[in-house]
Amino acid sequence: MKAIRGAITVPADTPEEIRGAVKCLLNGIRQKNNISPDDIVCIMFSSTADITSFYPAKAARECGFVCPLFSSLEPPVSGSLPLCIRVMVLAETEVAVPVYLRGAAALRKDITEMLVVALDGPAGSGKSTAARNLAKALDILYLDTGAMYRACALACVRSGVDVSDENAVRAVMDKLDLKVEYRGGRQLTLLGGEDVSEEIRRPEISQLASEVSALGCVRSAMVAMQRKIASGMSCVLDGRDIGTNVLPDAKYKFFVTASDEVRAKRRYEENRARGYEAVFEDILRDIRERDKRDSERAVAPLKCADDAVIVDTSDMTPEEVVQFIMNKIQEKV
Ligand code: DC
Repeated sequence: MKAIRGAITVPADTPEEIRGAVKCLLNGIRQKNNISPDDIVCIMFSSTADITSFYPAKAARECGFVCPLFSSLEPPVSGSLPLCIRVMVLAETEVAVPVYLRGAAALRKDITEMLVVALDGPAGSGKSTAARNLAKALDILYLDTGAMYRACALACVRSGVDVSDENAVRAVMDKLDLKVEYRGGRQLTLLGGEDVSEEIRRPEISQLASEVSALGCVRSAMVAMQRKIASGMSCVLDGRDIGTNVLPDAKYKFFVTASDEVRAKRRYEENRARGYEAVFEDILRDIRERDKRDSERAVAPLKCADDAVIVDTSDMTPEEVVQFIMNKIQEKV
C-alpha cells in the first residue's frame, strides 16, 4: 500500500467549485497511478481555512468513492497558498505518483518540473544505496544503470563470448533482449525474459561488466535505453557517466565518492552478506583495478561533471547522505 499525495486550488469558495476540483484531483490521481476505486483504502482531505462552503470528503462521496473519507481544516498560516485542497489517498499500488494541479503545482516544482537526478561515482561509494533511498523519499523511480552493464556481461558469458573480442560482443548486443521493469518498487533486470537481478551481482560479473562497459557498441545501446527511460518520467539514475554523458543537461547532479578502503570494506561486507566468498585485500585490489579501468577508458570515463556536487560518504551514514542530497535539491528547486 502507498500514500499518494495531491493538491489543487479552487477559484472560489463555492460548493460547485469544490465539487469540480475534487473530481478533477481524484480523477487525476486515478489516471496517473492507474488505480481503480477498489484499490483505494481511504481518502483524507485537508483544506485551507478559507474553504468553508462544502466538505471535500462529501464531494468525493458524490463522485462515487465508497471508501472511508475524511476532511479537516488547516490552520490559517500566513503566506500559505489560498483556496487549496490537499489530499492523501491510501491505495494498493506499487508506485505512488503525486498529482498537484492548477495553482497547487507551485507547491511541488520538484515533481511538476519532472525531476531527474544523476548520481555518479565509483564502486562502493554508496551511490546505489543513496539513489535507492533518494528515489523512495521523492516517490520516483530508481534506474540502476550498472545493472544494465552487468546484464550485458552476463549475456556474453551465457553466449560463451570472450569480452575482449569486440566483434563477438557486438553480435551479442545485436540480439540482446534486455528489459528493466519495476515490481514492488524494486528494479528487476530481465534477460530474455528471465529475472537475472541476483545473478548479475556475482563478483566475476562485476569485473566483466567493467570490461564490456568500455566498449562503444555496448555503451551506445545502453545510453540510448537510459535516455529513453529518463525522458518519460522523474527518476534517479546512478552510474559512472550519467551527469557527463547520458544526461549532461540534468539539473541535479551529484558525484558520490569515498576512500578506497571504505569502499572495499563495504563491498566485502556486501559480498559476505550475499554468501559469496570474500577476501578484503582481493576486493580492495579489484576496486582499484575497476576504478582505473572505468576512469581511464576512452569512451565516457568515470569522471565528476563540472557542475556536480561532490558527496564524500566516507564518514556519513546512508541517512545523512540522503538528507544532504535532498537539501541540495531543495536549494535548487
Ligand atoms: O555500479 P556497478 O558496480 O553495478 O557497475 C558495474 C560496471 O558497469 C562498472 O564497473 C562500471 C560500469 N558502468 C558504467 O560504465 N556506466 C554506468 N553508467 C554504470 C556502470
